[in-house]
Amino acid sequence: MSNPSILILPGDGIGPEVMSQVERIIEWFGDKRGLKFDVETDLVGGAAYDNHGTPLADETMARALEVDAVLLGAVGGPKYDDLDFSVKPERGLLRLRKEMDLFSNLRPAQCFDALADFSSLKKDVVAGLDIMIVRELTSGVYFGEPRGIHKEGNERVGINTQRYTESEIARVARSAFELARKRNNKVCSMEKANVMESGILWRDVVTEIHQAEYPDVELSHMYADNGAMQLVRAPKQFDVIVTDNLFGDVLSDCAAMLTGSLGMLPSASLGAPDANGRPKALYEPVHGSAPDITGQGKANPIACILSFAMALRYSFDQSDEATRLEKAVEKVLADGVRTADLMGPEGGSPVSTTEMGDVILEALDASL
Ligand code: NAD
Ligand code: IPM
Ligand code: MN
Repeated sequence: MSNPSILILPGDGIGPEVMSQVERIIEWFGDKRGLKFDVETDLVGGAAYDNHGTPLADETMARALEVDAVLLGAVGGPKYDDLDFSVKPERGLLRLRKEMDLFSNLRPAQCFDALADFSSLKKDVVAGLDIMIVRELTSGVYFGEPRGIHKEGNERVGINTQRYTESEIARVARSAFELARKRNNKVCSMEKANVMESGILWRDVVTEIHQAEYPDVELSHMYADNGAMQLVRAPKQFDVIVTDNLFGDVLSDCAAMLTGSLGMLPSASLGAPDANGRPKALYEPVHGSAPDITGQGKANPIACILSFAMALRYSFDQSDEATRLEKAVEKVLADGVRTADLMGPEGGSPVSTTEMGDVILEALDASL
């Protein structure tokens, strides 16, 4: 049997910097755990635009649909800010999500004990935090029609449309309920049913799916603005949060700070399971290309590394190895190893991106 296949798309800015640490970890699993992967690397985002004039070549899209998992670094950056909208780096990522039909985006926010003091929130608010945001990823205002910038009289009008079908809401709701059953059995659905019809439909469909298929799971509803406030007031009240594409984008960056840094937050974007029970899947850190620190060796690779741990768990049935990698990360943090983003105002001496990779590999060796 051939090895499982991985397509690596490092992308732009710090994407290649953090992904190079993941590549070392993939090699480690091949050498030390006999977990061999067939790895290929390609371009996405600005890097693809520079080479092909498009942020995602058709050949790359086709490979993404064939491999067992895609790992992505980050896309975008100031160099590309003035490009036509249709070829912006972010369009490459959005095309991958849409054409792979990755409707369920899991963004776990966990506060490692060693970082509880470091969060911008009080320690007792975040210590032991373990929540999962399930963000709908292939619809809503990101993709709804009509859209565009039009001229009306002598002024321009920018238009985007929030649009959800029942089936789009139902499938992401199911994935949230399924996850909740494996966790603490609680789902909080967030929308703005007070002002948006799509929010009313969202609330109705989530309630129907709950009553018909998951009555054993505890369900609550919250307006998304209140949800943002509750996330910083008392985040431990949540287990699984399910929400739409745009609210999920904003709420997950907010949740990142509960964990100490945006450089800590991984994600898995999953489609429907195939005949073998495997979903199409793309794994990426929640953060972007961080132009302000690119090329300085300052980027925290942990979000990208934990994204690979999610790949081990959700695409390769290697839960134990995923836990091994997560424990290695936990250990280096407990040992006080910190990249610059994890330094408090009192300072200290941060390690570089590569040094963080080095100590995580040492911790993996020590786990054998
Ligand atoms: P960003 O996430 O790139 O950076 C926000 C802040 O967090 C910056 O100060 C950055 O230095 C810091 N940061 C982010 N990741 C870090 C890491 N791993 N280690 C240490 N510090 C880290 O968001 P932005 O500045 O709003 O966006 C920059 C570009 O990235 C834009 O072009 C945006 O569209 C793109 N972006 C891409 C993705 C993605 O590829 N999935 C996600 C978000 C933003
Ligand atoms: C994210 C990013 C993306 C989004 C951009 C880069 C398209 O912010 O993955 O959170 O808005 O979804
Ligand atoms: Mn985002």
